[in-house]
Amino acid sequence: MAGLLIMLVTLCVGYVVADKEIVYLPPDKLTIVLQSAMLCIGETGVSADVLIEYRSGKEFGTDKTFQKFINCILSKSGYADESGHIKIEKALEIFPKNVDKDSIRKVILECNRENGSDPAETSFKFAKCFRQKAPVKIVI
Ligand SMILES: *[C@@H]1O[C@H](CO)[C@@H](O)[C@H](O)[C@H]1NC(C)=O
Repeated sequence: MAGLLIMLVTLCVGYVVADKEIVYLPPDKLTIVLQSAMLCIGETGVSADVLIEYRSGKEFGTDKTFQKFINCILSKSGYADESGHIKIEKALEIFPKNVDKDSIRKVILECNRENGSDPAETSFKFAKCFRQKAPVKIVI
């Protein structure tokens, strides 16, 4: 279970891409995300298999349960608002001072313009966009 939760944390940014800078989640943020993930697995019923597939680089599809899972984690941990969009300043807090926050902010702003048909899809579209375009990969 602990291993699964650790993998979940990196879901939003996905692939191991060599040219992406690695960003480690600070311990206080990590705790909140892991607690949210645990609750959200229960609430959404998302399967471990699905999570592992996405973790290992599968393209984000249209799986509604997975969309709800992403939205659940982001809203429970306080990074998404009711519409499913990202709270930009709060999201920027997770990045250490040595990363280029301006370029990350640009990607967040760009990805946050996407709208889904419901909050789950909106968060999902953000995560998909961020995963593709962010200059960093978040790990723990
Ligand atoms: C998403 O909705 C917002 C607010 O209604 C709007 O400003 C924005 O242009 C929309 N984005 C897209 C890509 O349609």
